[in-house]
Amino acid sequence: MSPARNIDLSPFNTLALPGRAARYERITAAGQLAEIPQTETRRFILGGGSNLVLSGDFAGLVLHMAILGKRLVKEDAEAWYIEAGAGENWHDFVQWTLAQGWPGLENLSLIPGTVGAAPIQNIGAYGLEVCECFHSLQAWNFQRGEFVSFDREACRFGYRDSLFKQQGWHLSGRLAIVSAVFRLPKQWVANLRYADLAQELASCEIATPTARDIAAAIVAIRQRKLPDPAVTPNAGSFFHNPLVEPQVADALAAAHPGLPRYPQPDGRVKLAAGWLIEQAGWKGKALGPVGMYEKQALVLVNHGGASGADVRRTMAAVQAAVREKFAVELSPEPIFL
Ligand code: FAD
Ligand code: EPU
Repeated sequence: MSPARNIDLSPFNTLALPGRAARYERITAAGQLAEIPQTETRRFILGGGSNLVLSGDFAGLVLHMAILGKRLVKEDAEAWYIEAGAGENWHDFVQWTLAQGWPGLENLSLIPGTVGAAPIQNIGAYGLEVCECFHSLQAWNFQRGEFVSFDREACRFGYRDSLFKQQGWHLSGRLAIVSAVFRLPKQWVANLRYADLAQELASCEIATPTARDIAAAIVAIRQRKLPDPAVTPNAGSFFHNPLVEPQVADALAAAHPGLPRYPQPDGRVKLAAGWLIEQAGWKGKALGPVGMYEKQALVLVNHGGASGADVRRTMAAVQAAVREKFAVELSPEPIFL
């Protein structure tokens, strides 16, 4: 292994924040991970950089995951099992499964980033979380110096959460996911749980959508609502949607009619952070070069030339505004390096 030195990371994060890696290696084969010397203790595993806030330079080794490959590993009466390398682009992978005639991931179309990062925060959108189609993953454990497997239960998935985040491994660089397997049931049922999706299909007069119709509808909704990082740098939703006790949601709704509320299976209620931010006056507002997007208040955007410190300043101002108006704490979704 001979890592490159002093590499500019700004093209590798969708917020386009500045920062340099002291050492940088592109990982195209799982075997490369075993060759990394024990002395490289400060590591960061980088995928597509679409859920990342760079604070500045990184003094350690950045491992940029670029392992490719996708294949059907198994098929039984109930399901297809599809494996993909960690470096595969998530959206391209989803489109490929649909083209093969293996539906199930269509609701997660157009989410940026890589396959390897998908389990880290259990990506979700339009009524589906990846854990619902997840089977297992393979990772290199740097401490143990061996490959390890995790099945769905072991990953302890939650809303934008997993074992990898709970243990802090997403920041310590202790584990590098090299591939993941998804289980796609053959008994496919259209997932139209998300109201916006059902509306989009109705407006296109599609009564019995195929998986590809759903993918197309989601791509259309997302392109309308979310900024393209290539044009307006962003990291998607910047905050989690807060989960509160039902009494808190009731009290807030009484004081603020129109408050969107989504009851969860565990009894808690999910609030819409975008709504709270808009009501707190931050939709389309900026502080220096960083603001909240004018069409979706939950998306923080870099209007040009921002640093990690600028992002933190706007983040704190938005959190303070929401705290003051609603007494609700917003926690950031991206990873801060
Ligand atoms: P990175 O940003 O590179 O890394 C994220 C974290 O994962 C880091 O901690 C990193 O160390 C770790 N990591 C990455 N790869 C590996 C690996 N192989 N092994 C171990 N650790 C790894 N997210 C959603 O859930 N739903 C959405 O609808 C959604 N929409 C978005 C829309 C836009 C426009 C953008 C910019 C982002 C959106 N996101 C969404 C967030 C983002 O796309 C996801 O979090 C995605 O999974 C991040 O993938 P990445 O490869 O870019 O990860
Ligand atoms: N809303 C507003 N104003 C806004 C934005 C949203 O009032 O500026 C309201 C909407 O009217 C709606 C509610 O908030 O009533 C929810 O909005 P939306 O459907 O746009 O979804 P979201 O909660 O803002 C979440 C995810 C997205 C995911 C979409 C679709 C989180 C943190 N975000 O956004 O994920 O794509 O639902 O499922 O859970 C991401 O994680 O990066 C991400 C983009």
